[in-house]
Amino acid sequence: MRILVIGASGAMGTNVVKGLSTHHGKFGEGVIEILKASTTSTDYPMDCTDDSSVRELFEKVGCVDAVVSTIGGAQWASAEVVSLEQIKATLEGKLLCQLRIALAARDHVVDGGSITLTSGIVGNFAFHGGSPSSIANLGLDAFVRNAAQELRRIRLNAVSATVLEESADAYGTVFPGFLPISGERVASAYVRSVYGTETGQTIKVWS
Ligand SMILES: NC(=O)c1ccc[n+]([C@@H]2O[C@H](COP(=O)([O-])OP(=O)(O)OC[C@H]3O[C@@H](n4cnc5c(N)ncnc54)[C@H](OP(=O)(O)O)[C@@H]3O)[C@@H](O)[C@H]2O)c1
Repeated sequence: MRILVIGASGAMGTNVVKGLSTHHGKFGEGVIEILKASTTSTDYPMDCTDDSSVRELFEKVGCVDAVVSTIGGAQWASAEVVSLEQIKATLEGKLLCQLRIALAARDHVVDGGSITLTSGIVGNFAFHGGSPSSIANLGLDAFVRNAAQELRRIRLNAVSATVLEESADAYGTVFPGFLPISGERVASAYVRSVYGTETGQTIKVWS
């Protein structure tokens, strides 16, 4: 089984690669190969903001059983001061980058394979400065729900998680009362999407 993880070097990606690797083989799925892509990847360097870079990545990779995206950057700003530029940057960094990946992946995922994108809890609850991110996350959730109905050959899901334990300090007071969760727990949602049978779902991971 070949799995392309885009954003593999990040906090989410590292946990997801570990989870997918650890789970694999428990049910006799055979050999696993995880292809790790990101801007600084040695084997699969790419820029998800650039159409031609994404196309070239998939040409290089060829056919895969699963594509997992764990990329996405958002701008945080109160609705009292947020600019349209910040919203556009978040839509590009979180939503469009992943749609670019999903659209390119369609022709490279084998029959019965899957695409998994990363949305987030900010689409479901209000947080200080979260309005740009809320739109991007819900856009991903809506795309997955709708597009999965028409993608007959392949499954399409998103994972929406709260903050990772290891990222909690970086987010500071953004998520009051929401307990950070372990990388293992977050990774289990991606395992469910890649090795399971669901499609059109946003798999939620929060307490
Ligand atoms: N961390 C959390 O607690 C958490 C919780 C829930 C959801 N999320 C979501 O998970 C996603 C990833 O977050 P993260 O915390 O893992 O971020 P991160 O640690 O900053 O990792 C980002 C990853 O994306 C890659 N990347 C960044 N820009 C790229 C580009 N233009 N082209 C290709 N690859 C690029 C980075 O590659 P290089 O390292 O090679 O530059 C890295 O592998 C985001 O959508 C975030 O909202 C995160």
